[in-house]
Amino acid sequence: MTGLSGLRALVTGGASGIGLATARTLAAQGARVAVLDLDPSAAQPPLLGFKADVSDDASVRTAVAEAATEMGGLDILVNNAGIGAAGTVEDNPDELWHGVLDINVLGIVRTTRAALPYLRRSPNAAVVNTCSIAATAGLPQRALYSASKGAVLSLTLAMAADHVREGIRVNCVNPGTADTPWVGRLLDAADDPDAERAALNARQPMGRLVTADEVAAAIVYLASPAAASVTGTALAVDGGMQGLRLRPAAGS
Ligand SMILES: NC(=O)c1ccc[n+]([C@@H]2O[C@H](COP(=O)([O-])OP(=O)(O)OC[C@H]3O[C@@H](n4cnc5c(N)ncnc54)[C@H](O)[C@@H]3O)[C@@H](O)[C@H]2O)c1
Repeated sequence: MTGLSGLRALVTGGASGIGLATARTLAAQGARVAVLDLDPSAAQPPLLGFKADVSDDASVRTAVAEAATEMGGLDILVNNAGIGAAGTVEDNPDELWHGVLDINVLGIVRTTRAALPYLRRSPNAAVVNTCSIAATAGLPQRALYSASKGAVLSLTLAMAADHVREGIRVNCVNPGTADTPWVGRLLDAADDPDAERAALNARQPMGRLVTADEVAAAIVYLASPAAASVTGTALAVDGGMQGLRLRPAAGS
């Protein structure tokens, strides 16, 4: 993959899971990397940590400006911060709907809005949003989360159209279930964590969860000059979950 030296990147939700793996991979390839997170303490040097809440416009604007100033500009924005929600449309109160959409969708709006003035000055400007298999496949008990990620997919396409003539590329990755602290928390909360993990593994054609590093590699590719002609795409990193239809193992 192309080296990223000289490029400056900002990763939201970059203190855990997919975001932290992405920040580390960007830095390993030579980029200067700022992490924006509720608690950026896990972002150790060379990563630069900035505390912000993507649901709070003022804190986002402050953190993006501080990060861009510290790094001398901004070339890559990874909109990765997100939270989950379980349940059908009957289960979640309006307040939870507003709260999840505020972080998962409007968080991208706020961060991108704050970053655009810097991205416009970059000759290699790229935005990558972390979307989900939940945007393209119906998953049970994920009505609110899926609606938020469906919005992220559409927002990615609209942003790509709005900014293509400014030289800013916009893409997203669609991970399947990834082995991150988030999924660890879900498993811990399950009645039978081992059975739950086995069920999640079995849902993926490869029979295992996606790793955070595998998703990070896809994000870094889309953010890199190697993807200079790639915009308005969703790259699935899902072990075949979206595209494949297998026969049961016994009959294959
Ligand atoms: N883990 C999966 O199976 C999976 C699958 C598909 C998509 N995703 C998406 O990947 C992204 C990262 O998920 P993860 O599994 O690495 O989760 P994670 O919980 O391990 O990390 C999420 C990070 O986002 C930060 N964050 C949360 N709310 C924030 C806010 N309001 N402002 C700033 N930072 C905030 C958290 O502090 C945390 O550091 C999310 O957008 C998620 O929807 C995850």
